Amino acid sequence: MSHRLAVLISGSGTNLQAIIDAIQAGQLQAEVAVVLSNSATAGGLQRAIRAGIPTLTLDHRNYPDRSGFDQTMISELDRFQPDTVVLAGFMRILSTAFVRHYHGRLINIHPSLLPRHKGLHTHRRALEAGDSEHGCTVHFVTEELDGGPAIARARVPVLVNDDEEILSQRVQAREHDLYPRVLDWRAAGRLTLGPQGVLLDGKPITAEGIDIDQLPAGLSGSAGTDRI
Ligand code: GAR
Repeated sequence: MSHRLAVLISGSGTNLQAIIDAIQAGQLQAEVAVVLSNSATAGGLQRAIRAGIPTLTLDHRNYPDRSGFDQTMISELDRFQPDTVVLAGFMRILSTAFVRHYHGRLINIHPSLLPRHKGLHTHRRALEAGDSEHGCTVHFVTEELDGGPAIARARVPVLVNDDEEILSQRVQAREHDLYPRVLDWRAAGRLTLGPQGVLLDGKPITAEGIDIDQLPAGLSGSAGTDRI
């Protein structure tokens, strides 16, 4: 049976689009079972509808507290039996109950080289800090905000004339390549979270995550794709 993704969004959904495109191109052996948004105006909802994917909109403002909202998300998402819950620009902090419920199958992409620049406005902060490189990180989600075990990262240079917009575009282009590739490892059963940390093909990976531009020998050859 195909690996079922539930993708959670709040905004334009360009990462969702990259996932949809990779599936359609045969580079990601999975299906998007449902797209959930906490905002009815999220552009990503239209992308899902165009691709024929079921959508759910749950407006967090209609719930008295985070716990009630998250419990509703859990019951709605579980109807779709997701193997992996994919945060793709989902801009809500998740409750402990939610994170625990999906432990080991909840994955996020964050627009920085974690552990640098957790939280918001990462591109601006990378520029302000004078960083010479920046990028994005895919990680398993735990209770610590942007602090779960890293899986993989893609680096970009920070150039002298960069502003926030240019830098964010450079990072986003890498996100759109990185996220489907990591999800394909997951869909192929190669990527798990064990008590000791992240395992790829049963072997522990480095704490900062695999640098996607420097894949160690032996990590190529995932089923159905020659992209890694
Ligand atoms: C992405 O850049 C993602 O890394 C970021 O939101 C953007 C969503 O873009 N996520 C976070 O900041 C999470 N803390 P998209 O809606 O076009 O995919």
